[in-house]
Amino acid sequence: MGIIGRLLGWLEQYLKMNKIRKDENHTARVDNLFSSIYRKYDLMNDVMSLGSHRLLKKQAMKNCQKGNLLDLATGTGDLAIYFRRQFGSDNSITLVEPNSEMLNYAKLRLAKKYIFDNIEYVTAYAEQLPFKDNTFDNVSIGFGLRNFTDKEQALHEIKRVLKPTGKLIVIDFSHPTNFIIRFLNSLYLKYLVPLFAKIFAGDTGEYKYLAESVAQHPSQSEIIELMEKTGFKNCDYINKLNGIIAVHTAEK
Ligand SMILES: C[S@@+](CC[C@H](N)C(=O)[O-])C[C@H]1O[C@@H](n2cnc3c(N)ncnc32)[C@H](O)[C@@H]1O
Repeated sequence: MGIIGRLLGWLEQYLKMNKIRKDENHTARVDNLFSSIYRKYDLMNDVMSLGSHRLLKKQAMKNCQKGNLLDLATGTGDLAIYFRRQFGSDNSITLVEPNSEMLNYAKLRLAKKYIFDNIEYVTAYAEQLPFKDNTFDNVSIGFGLRNFTDKEQALHEIKRVLKPTGKLIVIDFSHPTNFIIRFLNSLYLKYLVPLFAKIFAGDTGEYKYLAESVAQHPSQSEIIELMEKTGFKNCDYINKLNGIIAVHTAEK
């Protein structure tokens, strides 16, 4: 191999290492963030959205079909609760979450609501799911995709674990279509949300990450492209509140 070949090899290795380091930093940052806010997470959701996140999540889960559910990035378990209320306890739910504080909190919350039957809690990242191929009828992700370190890898994993007739439902912050709403929304996320976090959650800075993560999140159509690239079919989305929030659906 000539000197140019060797240099290209080193460059490739360097870029690979750099990506791994960057990914590890991102994962650790997100994990620390949720460890520091898990107790106030539900309160902040109600404050930030004036309670509207409840209705939006409930509506999003109407896209699920009968059968079992894998709820990724489950956090405090909201989507799992709506699914259980909609389909009853014959339909099993697996709640997946990498942050142990969040997952323990979800366990307590569901227990307080007497949701015990056919429930499993698993600590894992969406990018590496500890399940067999073709296991689930539904996969849901509530306000989680934005935080994933490698969205494409996560989508590959989701497709792998979905049954051939399985459905994916993703709800997350997105990009408003009207530029005035987009501008006001970015101001709201950047300045008012951190202020609310200070007042209601005694938080000093973690909620600043929200504006940053929403700004960097792919647009509605970019997510469709990513889903299609991963091999999902019938990919679609619906904007809520002019696109402040979007619900994406896809089939395996
Ligand atoms: C904003 S919370 C969403 C909680 C809940 N699903 C909801 O709708 O309110 C995002 C969650 O994503 C989790 N998360 C971050 N990175 C993840 C990853 N790579 N795989 C799975 N979950 C992840 C975080 O630990 C956090 O609990």
